Amino acid sequence: MMRVAVTRRIFPELIEGLRADFELVDNQSDATWTPKELHAALADADGALLTSGERIDDAVLTQSPRLKVVSNVAVGYNNLDLAACTRHGVLATNTPDVLNEAVADHAWALLLAAARRVGESERWLRAGLWKRWTFDMYLGAEVSGTTLGILGMGRIGRAIARRAAGFGMKVIYHNRSAVPPELAEGARGVTLTELLQQSDHLILVVPYTTAAHHLIDGGALAEMKRTAVLVNIARGGIVDDAALVAALREGRIAAAGLDVYENEPALHPGLLELENVVLTPHIASATRATRQAMAQLAIRNLRAALAGEVPPSLLNPEALDHRRR
Ligand code: DGY
Repeated sequence: MMRVAVTRRIFPELIEGLRADFELVDNQSDATWTPKELHAALADADGALLTSGERIDDAVLTQSPRLKVVSNVAVGYNNLDLAACTRHGVLATNTPDVLNEAVADHAWALLLAAARRVGESERWLRAGLWKRWTFDMYLGAEVSGTTLGILGMGRIGRAIARRAAGFGMKVIYHNRSAVPPELAEGARGVTLTELLQQSDHLILVVPYTTAAHHLIDGGALAEMKRTAVLVNIARGGIVDDAALVAALREGRIAAAGLDVYENEPALHPGLLELENVVLTPHIASATRATRQAMAQLAIRNLRAALAGEVPPSLLNPEALDHRRR
């Protein structure tokens, strides 16, 4: 029987379905495996179902000679060294599309909450500080009718842009590669500098790569409008968290809504001291239906790879030529 490692508790009822066909090494606890535990679990595994928190690199692949597929239950795959997977003939897969709408919804939740000071005013209210209503209390930033900037016009970026139409917003975007006009949702492509300078509010949706590291640093933040809200639902590391804390503290931008952080789950301590930031714990795709769809797609990818078929969302087709048998 082939052996499959499951690195996290991922809907046990779905994982149970694998038990008939595979021997499972299943981390059913909420404690993340240490790199050593991960290496041990993968050492004689044929497949792995994992999340973006587990790093698969050359060292892991070298020590796991039977491994044929690493199936990420995530659309982001910066935890996978794709070149190393390909070199080792290991198929790498992710879960695109099924989470587009949930993630776009969460981007909007963060934008609206940060612009309209939802967290800050709720904390004040819960603290029993509301004694009288005043006309100018908790004045927020306008969202409807303003210009929304989107950094990364992929599938999720486009889902975010579609929602902007309902808010009567003009949408501009910057993307690494050209976006065909029919996929741009009426948005206008601009340079990164123009995006920073012209966006009333800016949402980050770019994948994390070495080139994207600290793309939003102190210099980029200085280009933004002082009234702007910045939202990051992409990956930690794209924003320089220390520079963001300084910009928020000094009022160089109005507010931020963050779902991802440089060293998550640890946060830059400055973030917790600020009122003008809304913080969520990497849950942008976390609706039950979406997380189930992600798990199901990841399981389909895993099963296909182990059956010698081409998985539906294969990231490195080049590996097919010398895949491990
Ligand atoms: C994703 O799918 O990439 C989410 O960020 C969860 O890791």
